[in-house]
Amino acid sequence: MARIPCSPDEVKPPSEGQLVKVENGRLVVPDNPIVVFIEGDGIGPEVVASAKAVIDAAVKKAYGGKRKIVWWEAAAGSKAMETCGELLPQATLEAIKTAKVALKGPLTTPVGSGYRSLNVAIRQALDLYANIRPVRYYGQPAPHKYADKVNFVIFRENTEDLYAGIEWQAGSEEARKLREFLKKEFGIELREDAGIGIKPISKFATQRLMRKALRWAIDHGNKIVTIMHKGNIMKYTEGAFMQWAYEVATTEFRDYVVTEQELYEKYGGQMPEGKILVNDRIADNMLQQIITRPWDYEVIVAPNVNGDYISDEANALVGGIGMAAGMNAGDYIAVAEPVHGTAPKYAGKDVANPTAEILSAVLLIGEHMGWKEVALIVEEAIRRAIRDKKVTQDLARHMPGVTPLKTSEYTQALIEYIESM
Ligand code: NAI
Repeated sequence: MARIPCSPDEVKPPSEGQLVKVENGRLVVPDNPIVVFIEGDGIGPEVVASAKAVIDAAVKKAYGGKRKIVWWEAAAGSKAMETCGELLPQATLEAIKTAKVALKGPLTTPVGSGYRSLNVAIRQALDLYANIRPVRYYGQPAPHKYADKVNFVIFRENTEDLYAGIEWQAGSEEARKLREFLKKEFGIELREDAGIGIKPISKFATQRLMRKALRWAIDHGNKIVTIMHKGNIMKYTEGAFMQWAYEVATTEFRDYVVTEQELYEKYGGQMPEGKILVNDRIADNMLQQIITRPWDYEVIVAPNVNGDYISDEANALVGGIGMAAGMNAGDYIAVAEPVHGTAPKYAGKDVANPTAEILSAVLLIGEHMGWKEVALIVEEAIRRAIRDKKVTQDLARHMPGVTPLKTSEYTQALIEYIESM
């Protein structure tokens, strides 16, 4: 096994595997691809181990011995601190760039002080501009009457907006300078004790996200792509996001789409066969509508902050955080990670729900790398486990009389379902 790289000269992919490559603008995946994994903090090591084992079983089931993933460990967070003496070694980023595909566990981020989020640092360093979060129902106990109607994929912009980290602390020299500048140049007065954040949203970042969302919609036969924004209030950031997103749809994807305006002006409200409807909704309205009319939404494209809120809400509709998968993708590089964090109270106890990490791995292997059979097998195993009430405690507590399985027992149950398919 290759050792964990700490310095860039130690970045040596395992010799048993081959690297995923880019040829003619497309990802080329060999039969024994090298996939980086980062265990992460808290429950990370347990859920990542589970995801690897389930994926390995599904790959074996799908392709016999013809295909096999070669896992390559890199470190971030506490394990990187122990092994390499720093939280995010450059070697880890190099390993991901080399392999192009990675599965990551959650990492601890201190709130309000201390170091900045390692997750955000990884996304920014590798320009993983799209955070893709599918929200699906697998039969789990869910608070929503129409949970079975929820089937969204959220494309959240990952590099800009308030999360880009351009902010200054109240009372700092930088905040003072900025206040003075705003007063002198624009006549804007801010309170002296105000922290200040800047919200940049660019045409470039908006349009590459929209492109990815529309390609996904075309590939998956989706019928609606909705742009979520607060453009009525923030005209030049969120409003521009909407306009730029529409522009991509009506220029680069002209043959595939009909906008909501065109639907009524040109088609009398009747959607033409085979086209994708592109519409937009104001963020607050939309946060209600995915509850009242979930069937009206399929692919949702949102700036960073809106995307964060709506994906957590959407996941709550179908049973919560233990099931919520995600992937950060650039043009070619992708790092899959669950939506949840390190759940410190469950760390090391073998009780966390690994499904979110497993479904994140499914996004990476099944969608990004194109091994669709693996996705079908794993998703079916999850459906069967839930049907048979073989679930971890986060779901079992909503299922009267059901004894929860440990993380390791649930993983084993999934592997048995896979082997018996
Ligand atoms: P969290 O997602 O860790 O926990 C929220 C709640 O959900 C807790 O009650 C937790 O026990 C439960 N939970 C989370 N994942 C679960 C799972 N797989 N199975 C069962 N229950 C689960 O969020 P929290 O508490 O806000 O953050 C804890 C730490 O994680 C912080 O340091 C935070 O910065 C970090 N974090 C990291 C993320 C990442 O690496 N992408 C994302 C979110 C938070």
